[in-house]
Amino acid sequence: MNKRLYFIYLCTLLSFQSLAQPSQQQRDSLNKLSAEDHQLMMKQLGITSLRPGPSGNPEAPNAANSDESKASPYTNLPDALVFNDGTKVRTARQWEKRKQELFELFSKEMYGRMPASIPAVTWEVVSQKDTVNGNYPVRVKHLLGHVDNRSYPAIKVDIQLTLTTPLNPPSAVHLVLEFGWNFPVNRNTPPPPGPTWQQQLLAKGWGYAILIPTSFQADNGAGLRAGIIGLVNKGQLRKADDWGTLRAWAWGASRAMDYLETTPEVDARRVVIEGLSRYGKAALVAMAYEPRFAMGLIGSSGAGGAKILRRVFGEQVENLAASGEYHWFAPNFIKYAGPLTPNDLPVDAHELIALCAPRPVFISVGSSTVEGHWIDAKGMFVAGVHASPVYELLGKKGLESKEFPPQETALLKGDIAYRQHEGGHTVGPNWPFFIQFAERYFKK
Ligand code: GCU
Repeated sequence: MNKRLYFIYLCTLLSFQSLAQPSQQQRDSLNKLSAEDHQLMMKQLGITSLRPGPSGNPEAPNAANSDESKASPYTNLPDALVFNDGTKVRTARQWEKRKQELFELFSKEMYGRMPASIPAVTWEVVSQKDTVNGNYPVRVKHLLGHVDNRSYPAIKVDIQLTLTTPLNPPSAVHLVLEFGWNFPVNRNTPPPPGPTWQQQLLAKGWGYAILIPTSFQADNGAGLRAGIIGLVNKGQLRKADDWGTLRAWAWGASRAMDYLETTPEVDARRVVIEGLSRYGKAALVAMAYEPRFAMGLIGSSGAGGAKILRRVFGEQVENLAASGEYHWFAPNFIKYAGPLTPNDLPVDAHELIALCAPRPVFISVGSSTVEGHWIDAKGMFVAGVHASPVYELLGKKGLESKEFPPQETALLKGDIAYRQHEGGHTVGPNWPFFIQFAERYFKK
């Protein structure tokens, strides 16, 4: 290994290790710095207090609601097919205009705006190796996307991406691009027995790529003055409608897509964006804003992802707006935990799904008894139901049923698919169903 490679290897190892096991002291100081930035954002918005969110611990006295009869059916869900001025969207051409309104609302109030100019990324293949995954010969490329930081050299940003494709494929391959965790996330949810999801894809002749979101934007408020957000801001604080971490992660996925478009072994018109949990939220944001993604596999995304925010069930806006999670969003979003309420939101999750139309989206979630109620499986299903009229307007199908199905019922016939699997906080058991769904579109 040459010196440069060894250096990169060492840095990667160190950053992985420190991310995998931050000491209590490191965690405390990150939390403190995040709380400080959160306070500054509240001050900037003129907010003095926020409503606290419920607890994710079902045993806690203030546990999040898990009783469907108390999920308080909201009466003011915005209609994706009604313009801001109250007129109806009746044609596909009108929907193109309505889309712009929705992008504007989501950007301003929730996920934040992308800066007008973001420095360019140059991709470098750091290493390439032919090897096997299970029985499948593959080529693995480790890549770094170097962000041009001449405008602010104090901050250096490199995007980590690993691309695995079948060795010598007969033609350009379909690909799943995953927002990947750089530490074992499913400690309590072992993968299902049998081939891994990667091997299931390889068996079909597909490839996969793993993008490490935290390599270019940290998953905390403390990191907002660094990473790609900090680089563009030259280390300054965010403004009220500046992008949050989810959009920054989605930006990285778009840059990965730029690279994939230059790679002959990948069919860039057939790239699926996928993620779990906070990365499920990022996958949905990426899918909505980036038209080059052909399909989305949105794993347990919950609040801030595919779940209707107006539902009083599981995680709430008040949790998202608190100092541990507000960084995922524009500072403006904090307002909806005080003085405003979730009912004041000009948009809701069904409209983010609708922005993916007519492209297929698979909404995945685990069992409510194993994964828990925090994610709100039904809230994501309902969002799919309310997004369906947009798919229908565009000549597609949306969800095949409006009835919340029993666990392990695969709704695969529409262009929005849904399945609640038997496992926990993972996409694991849903991979075979997703592949079946995707093949309907990708079979040549
Ligand atoms: C927390 C958070 C969720 C998030 C999840 C995760 O539970 O409240 O919104 O999706 O972490 O990313 O694992």
